[in-house]
Amino acid sequence: MAEPAIRLRNVHLTLGQGRSSVHVLKGVDLNIARGESVGIVGPSGSGKSTLLMVLAGLERADEGLVEIAGQSLGGMTEDQLASFRGRHIGIVFQSFHLIPNMTAIENVAVPLELAGVPDPFERAARELGLVGLSERLEHYPGELSGGEQQRVALARALAIEPDILIADEPTGNLDSEIGRQVADLLFSEQTRRRTTLVLVTHDAQLAARCDREIKVRTGEIHDDGGAPRAVLPQHVDRHVRALEAAPE
Ligand SMILES: Nc1ncnc2c1ncn2[C@@H]1O[C@H](COP(=O)(O)OP(=O)(O)O)[C@@H](O)[C@H]1O
Ligand SMILES: [Mg+2]
Repeated sequence: MAEPAIRLRNVHLTLGQGRSSVHVLKGVDLNIARGESVGIVGPSGSGKSTLLMVLAGLERADEGLVEIAGQSLGGMTEDQLASFRGRHIGIVFQSFHLIPNMTAIENVAVPLELAGVPDPFERAARELGLVGLSERLEHYPGELSGGEQQRVALARALAIEPDILIADEPTGNLDSEIGRQVADLLFSEQTRRRTTLVLVTHDAQLAARCDREIKVRTGEIHDDGGAPRAVLPQHVDRHVRALEAAPE
């Protein structure tokens, strides 16, 4: 297989101190291919969110290897990790996590500016247009519905063209129809951009929309859904499609 987007080897993590410490991740091994979408399911408390935090570089593994886009997170300093995250990883949380005193466009543009992307406000406006929010650029989060806030969060996550998009219960705070619209947008943008997606969800229908489902049980991968689906790099894929389209 080509170099995977995500490679975990024997990842262990214990959270908390003393009597309240919990061995949350117990030797997780995982490969996720570039462009693949993976749904992570499992009972509450099984370590799904913690696993995402490790993938995002927001928690460090105590032991084992965490490699994103060919780079090992373990050896990075906090500053290097923050900068890596800002350029390579997009995150969408259940509760949106927008900055309340910034407008929609500022919420998207500021991380772009920090990542050194040119013309961050123009880029942010374009990204908000792609999620259907051209008319809401100057609104504050408190002036937006839940579905709109999550679309801003999605635009913010995708604007950097991340190598991996991480989503923890992204429709968990939305009613079912709005949740479905946000999920449609998430999958259509993920497919169009060929972003690697790791999605945690309780919703079996949502998980089934992913290329592969991974079942987690008490800190271990119980079923990794088989080998990563081979996803061709964009230029190879274009080449293959051109060949297929060519007359005999
Ligand atoms: N900071 C922490 N200190 C101690 N235990 C924690 C901490 N964070 C999470 N845990 C425990 O780790 C386990 C996994 O949590 P989590 O990853 O949030 O599970 P999930 O997302 O699958 O519901 C739970 O038993 C939880 O109580
Ligand atoms: Mg969770």
